[in-house]
Amino acid sequence: MIYRFDILGSTNDQARNPLYKEGDIVIAERQTAGRGQRGHTWESAEGENLTFSLILEPKFLPVNEQFLLSEVLALGLVDTLAEYGIEARIKWTNDIYVGDKKIVGMLIENSLGGGCLARTIAGIGLNVNQAEFDPSLPNPTSMSLIRGEKFDREAILARLHNNIMSLYEVLRRGEKELLQSRYRSTMYRLGEKHPYALADGTIFEGIIRGVQPSGELQIEHSSDGSLHEYLFKQVEFVIKK
Ligand code: BTN
Repeated sequence: MIYRFDILGSTNDQARNPLYKEGDIVIAERQTAGRGQRGHTWESAEGENLTFSLILEPKFLPVNEQFLLSEVLALGLVDTLAEYGIEARIKWTNDIYVGDKKIVGMLIENSLGGGCLARTIAGIGLNVNQAEFDPSLPNPTSMSLIRGEKFDREAILARLHNNIMSLYEVLRRGEKELLQSRYRSTMYRLGEKHPYALADGTIFEGIIRGVQPSGELQIEHSSDGSLHEYLFKQVEFVIKK
């Protein structure tokens, strides 16, 4: 079921209500307190984009395999954008980029039960028709800015829902290697030399070699060829504006 609201604080907060079940979507035309990663807010022009939360109940998925859900969601977005002629890549962990610009942000919130996941709220902000962004945002883009036309948001939502749920069934069937190899080959900056920043501000040059099934990013340091693994928040991409 798709539950539609004109205005909400955050669709992720609304989606916590146990009324919503696996596969349901909570969508709002406007969020007054849209949440992003790392405690940031998520700004989205009213009625121009897609801001929604998808509810999943992946009770079959062990907690230490939860990164597979990020893979399902990110690949569902990349596949959908490809259907609109947009070649997107996954910026680890789960931003979607076109070139060096961000077109989708995701906030995935899991609750656990007995060693497995109980409920996942996958909050997705996809920039569809917005053409102007606050200049303080680092590097936003939208489908419309990329393709030079306006899009039917309902049609995109239907495709996205379908594509994500199909990949979720791939996960349920246990085809993990397929998801992992597709995620890896779709990664932003895979195999290219670029600068990265550590949490203490140190900058180094490195090459992304892949991602562990548990989600750690693997970067080969260009200084000495050593391979390092990073958890979320331990390393940041350095991207020119
Ligand atoms: C990020 O890139 O920082 C994550 C952004 C996530 C935004 C979406 S919009 C729908 C859902 N509701 C929220 O409050 N946040 C997510």
